[in-house]
Amino acid sequence: MRPSFRLHHCTAIITGASSGLGAEFARQLAPHADGLVLTARRADALERVKDEVQSLNPDLKVILCACDIASDAGRAQLLEVTTALEPFPNLLINNAGAGDYGTFATSDEARTRGQIDLNITALVMLTHALLPRLQRGAGTPAGVLNVSSLAAMLPMPGLAVYAATKSFVTSFSEALRVELSDANVVVTAVCPGPTPTNFGRNARRPDGTDTDRSGQGLIRVRPQTVVRQALDALSQGRACVHPGVSVTLASVLFRLMPRRMMRLLIEKRFRAGSRERAPI
Ligand SMILES: NC(=O)c1ccc[n+]([C@@H]2O[C@H](COP(=O)([O-])OP(=O)(O)OC[C@H]3O[C@@H](n4cnc5c(N)ncnc54)[C@H](OP(=O)(O)O)[C@@H]3O)[C@@H](O)[C@H]2O)c1
Repeated sequence: MRPSFRLHHCTAIITGASSGLGAEFARQLAPHADGLVLTARRADALERVKDEVQSLNPDLKVILCACDIASDAGRAQLLEVTTALEPFPNLLINNAGAGDYGTFATSDEARTRGQIDLNITALVMLTHALLPRLQRGAGTPAGVLNVSSLAAMLPMPGLAVYAATKSFVTSFSEALRVELSDANVVVTAVCPGPTPTNFGRNARRPDGTDTDRSGQGLIRVRPQTVVRQALDALSQGRACVHPGVSVTLASVLFRLMPRRMMRLLIEKRFRAGSRERAPI
């Protein structure tokens, strides 16, 4: 039988906890959890999330680690902070992620590398380092909740590297889930569609370059709903969830659509968007 995860009395490490979905994971876990390790680069924003979650549960133990997990040194800092914890966390939420709007050819090399280091390398290496200690034995299931994206299902011109990193996250999660199915570890991938957070603002390039996001409003889902459905899916031991009815329907459509047809539609949309963005 597939394991399921108990949110009650869990202790979770949440990456990207200073805003958006990560902060919402902290809020929704606060009433159930015994402890949270919140990590992101901005210490002041983490402090605000800490105050908020402790007002929801004054008994909650909250540890902050302000570091850049895209770097080896930042991840080492996070691992050092968690090493001393007793009991050791039994849930890892790999949530931190970033995008970069605009074509690949015009992208900044450091920004592209940073995106891969955060969305892929940090997620994989933290999971590898923490996994042996997340497992507390047969009685207490462990969990790994990876934040992927609906974008994982599509090639996305104008967001090509980001969408490819999320394909990686979904694929990695599904394989890891099988490897760990006898080890009492639940691995769940959550694949949100467009969600109002700081993501879009951070993905826009310093020169203002944006991508064509028309139509996204039709399938936008609130962060509260995304996180609630992600935690429900983890609790039920599900492999993957696309939060929100509209996003679930879109995922079914993308799965059923012949790849050739999908490429044609995407190309048409990209060319139309490029014409609109072209200088007159
Ligand atoms: N919003 C959407 O439409 C959407 C859709 C699908 C999937 N997602 C995924 O959802 C996840 C959360 O994103 P969000 O929407 O909540 O965006 P967000 O509000 O921009 O949050 C991103 C979080 O990641 C942290 N972060 C960024 N770079 C980091 C680094 N180098 N080291 C450590 N932490 C870092 C940020 O904190 P600091 O700046 O303080 O470091 C922030 O807490 C991402 O994986 C994203 O790909 C988002």
